[in-house]
Amino acid sequence: MPLYNMRELLHDAHKGGYAVGSFSVANLECVMGVIQAAEEMRAPIIMQCAETRLRHTPLAMLGPMMVAAARHARVPVAVHLDHGATIPCVQEALALGFTSVMLDGSTLPIAQNIAEVKRVVALARESGAAVEAEVGRVGRGEDGSDCPMAAASIDDCLAMDDAGIDAIAVGIGNAHGLYAATPELRYDILEQLSGKLRSYLVLHGGTGLTDGQFVKLIGLGMRKINIATDIFRAAALAPRTDDIFRNITDGAAAVKLVTQKYIALFGSAGKAE
Ligand code: 13P
Repeated sequence: MPLYNMRELLHDAHKGGYAVGSFSVANLECVMGVIQAAEEMRAPIIMQCAETRLRHTPLAMLGPMMVAAARHARVPVAVHLDHGATIPCVQEALALGFTSVMLDGSTLPIAQNIAEVKRVVALARESGAAVEAEVGRVGRGEDGSDCPMAAASIDDCLAMDDAGIDAIAVGIGNAHGLYAATPELRYDILEQLSGKLRSYLVLHGGTGLTDGQFVKLIGLGMRKINIATDIFRAAALAPRTDDIFRNITDGAAAVKLVTQKYIALFGSAGKAE
């Protein structure tokens, strides 16, 4: 199956009233597990890796594995750079064939964030890749680093939407990593944005939210939901033996199981037809 553009998957999700899971991968076991889950459930998925993690797994190695896995998958898969922080990394991902890239300018003043995102929109246009931006700020960095949450302003979201992006991650009280307590999400922000955006809404910090919160978020238009911590924990906590091949199989199986839980919750099962 060819690689899919992320915008196409989100467009279908919008029409169908469901969300596409965007699952973060760190190694072969994660890649195999999320693809197996998607194939068994006939679900479109997005597979992603964040720039901050690439000091452990260089993009030059992890990236081609993700792209190859997507090309061989029997369901639509888009390959996405999560939390791109630098233009060279975005360029490398695009050169490897990623069909979507994020430029995370959430720590910059909004005008500068938009200016950086516009540079990425111009780069992505050459290969037709989709672009995700962040407005407001998701709490805690993708790698657990300290970073305060900031709620997205409606005006900033509308201004960013005009930058030619495909997907918009909004700060609504969400955070990466494990929540100390179930967060109070700012559904009012999504209500105010309803019907006003050309880009599709993205939720970061999916691990630890309740089933009811996912249902409500999807009802309010959330179309891409990121899951990282639960994928990484499943792979890390899978049973280990002195047989590396058994460990790879068990690791992938553990990742598959947790991925399937989210696919079912997001309503994307059976949507690959
Ligand atoms: P979690 O680690 O909380 O699942 O968040 C994932 C994410 O948003 C990656 O960008």
